[in-house]
Amino acid sequence: MMYQILNAYGEGLIGRERQITQNLITMKNEIQSSIGQTVDPSNIVEEFILNTIEDLLIGRNFGRHGQLQPLIKKLDHGLNEVTNLGTDMVYSAFPFLRFLPLPHSKKFQDAIKMKDQLMDMLDSLSREETGDKGVYQSLKEITLERDTFGKQWFTDLHLWSMIVNLIAGGYLTTRGTLLSIIHILAKRPDLQKSLHTEIDNVVGVDRKPNLTDRQHCPFVDAVIIETLRFISHLPTLFHNTTEGTNIAGIPVDQNTTVVVNLWTIHHSDKEWDEPFSFKPERFLQPDGSLMSSTDPVRKRMLAFGIGKRSCIGEVFAKSRIFLFLSTLMQSFTILEPEDCELPDFLPKNMESGLLMQPKPYKVRFVRRKQLG
Ligand code: HEM
Repeated sequence: MMYQILNAYGEGLIGRERQITQNLITMKNEIQSSIGQTVDPSNIVEEFILNTIEDLLIGRNFGRHGQLQPLIKKLDHGLNEVTNLGTDMVYSAFPFLRFLPLPHSKKFQDAIKMKDQLMDMLDSLSREETGDKGVYQSLKEITLERDTFGKQWFTDLHLWSMIVNLIAGGYLTTRGTLLSIIHILAKRPDLQKSLHTEIDNVVGVDRKPNLTDRQHCPFVDAVIIETLRFISHLPTLFHNTTEGTNIAGIPVDQNTTVVVNLWTIHHSDKEWDEPFSFKPERFLQPDGSLMSSTDPVRKRMLAFGIGKRSCIGEVFAKSRIFLFLSTLMQSFTILEPEDCELPDFLPKNMESGLLMQPKPYKVRFVRRKQLG
């Protein structure tokens, strides 16, 4: 159901692409107005991602000065803080801690309050007449359905958990990826040169990049895939067995928490040559084309998980990242600040949380050429 509602495949993806392209115009204008300055790119990246999330939720967006974006941002950063691995384990073992006046419990209560505020806001915005109703209203309509026994099968609890899942899945994941790419590229003019050449050859300067270009831009895709492997910013996944099973011949009982360590999978030197070096070429064939998704090397990259509970936003996420990176590279070069050195990007130094984020940094953007 969520796949259909996300509308991120086939025809639906074309509609999303239109919205994303619109948001990229805002992104380019923001970068353009930063020319000549040294800037922290996080505001630019955040506004772009949050605009697309607003479009997804309510079919339109109000930008970073609207009421919705600051709330989504605060809620997701709050959730990321309260759900980090260590504290989550302590609070799962001793749930009563949530009700004691501890600083962490307060953050927990704040996140719940923000969630309620957000749902009220989405509810009132979705009542206004617009062309695209967005995911919130589509889900709200399902809460009115009744099964053959007259029972509501999709409740408000289902509704808000899906919305919170979408926000949590769609914001910090992409924020971490895009901010990492910008930092990595600022330190690697050689990679920017290859990206510029590919975009110039495939897209040129007279039109905007689109999703059909992706199949002709293997280097852009290889940079994205290598970024996801290199940063592994969602380092661990938690699953619970609903029945007894075995993993690689080891018996696992029902109701066992299984922790998938994506960080180790992506940084094992048994699987990867120089795992702590950023090498997009590891995903390319000798002729420069992208390895197929069934290639054993590609199959070792599990940033979106695997199997039944893998990421439902993968296609949407990859499309959004492709359009962002190709648009950025079509028009701009990223440089280190003039007055201070930008440190190398080290995945081990990212800020902690359920989803790790790059440390704040500053760069300069320079316009490549005047587009028509
Ligand atoms: C770089 C971007 C992204 C990465 C690396 C990523 C990664 C993941 C991973 C590893 C999982 C968990 C898989 C598991 O537990 O086995 C997941 C689940 C999920 N993701 Fe993403 N994701 C990204 C973007 C998105 C986007 C853009 C959306 C929505 C618009 C999204 C929505 C979700 C949802 C709703 C789930 C839960 C699925 C379930 O429980 O069945 N993700 N994601």
